Amino acid sequence: MNTPLISSRLPHVGNTIFSVMSALAAQYQAVNLGQGFPDFDCDIELIDSVTQAMQQGHNQYPPMAGVPVLRDMISDKVESLYRHHYDPQTEITVTAGATQAIMCAIQCCVHPGDEVIVIEPAYDCYLPVIELTGARAVTIAMQLSESGFCIPWDRLAASITPKTRLIILNTPNNPTGSTLSTADFNALADILRRPEHKQILILSDEVYEHMVYDGKQHISICSHPELVQRAFVISSFGKTFHVTGWKVGYLCAPVAMSVEFISSPFSQSIRRCSTGWLRTCRTRNHIWIYPIFIRSNAICFARACPKPDSGYCRSRALIFNAWITGKFLTCRNWNLLNG
Ligand SMILES: Cc1ncc(COP(=O)(O)O)c(C=O)c1O
Repeated sequence: MNTPLISSRLPHVGNTIFSVMSALAAQYQAVNLGQGFPDFDCDIELIDSVTQAMQQGHNQYPPMAGVPVLRDMISDKVESLYRHHYDPQTEITVTAGATQAIMCAIQCCVHPGDEVIVIEPAYDCYLPVIELTGARAVTIAMQLSESGFCIPWDRLAASITPKTRLIILNTPNNPTGSTLSTADFNALADILRRPEHKQILILSDEVYEHMVYDGKQHISICSHPELVQRAFVISSFGKTFHVTGWKVGYLCAPVAMSVEFISSPFSQSIRRCSTGWLRTCRTRNHIWIYPIFIRSNAICFARACPKPDSGYCRSRALIFNAWITGKFLTCRNWNLLNG
């Protein structure tokens, strides 16, 4: 019997660029600037904690929203960093990576025919998920200014229609490494405060929240008292603890939004996560500061282009910025990139 042909739900989406670049990097043993994962191991204490948790029998389905003590710790963390309290019982959900949280958040609130505003360049899962819901993505390109890449809020405001349901933000941004400021959030709040915009929600992808450089601070949308009331805020333990393959993340949102999120049919494979992780890592300040990748055999050097504030791999963001601005030179000393 032949396999029936599937009529693709995403005919324009082929292999992701991450898969293509990672395969090429492996084939040619090149420095992989395509995908955001580290080339060093995570803290051994983290492995020990997870091993211990598994040996103690924590291997079965957790409650739907994630293990309660982990949700308590996420709530404490968010409150201590961003001064907003989420109720761990009703407003925090542990997910199988940030990607699952993004997918479920979009699916739970966007209907066919709605519009979703996406700032480009953007992480590559946003557009296919929007398409799968039958909604339309309205893309706004970031602008390059003296201080780096920024969101043109006037253009964003002009692109809002009665069909706009969701705005997706990503700070720190992949791939530019730029970060949103309080002024950015105030500009967005000014737009969304208009009565005709009261139906608009925000998805704030903050997976790189702990990778911000040069003494700058990540400003979470959680710290904006108005915007937090309509935001899905997403983070990733995979990114924070350098274990991207484990795919554990979480979503925080006001109770009415969390209820929809968790009842979404896509939100079924919530993972148990060893609470030892947070306990171990919270006590060690170093985990909030992510070391920059250092490779000795790179051949690219970017100069006089916007310096990324943040990002998993600062070098990758820098190279992206240099490429966009045409400010590429070559050299063989990768350490210069990290200076
Ligand atoms: C902006 C952004 N959001 C989300 C993710 C995915 O995070 P996770 O691996 O936890 O699904 C990535 C991964 O590269 C990313 O760059």
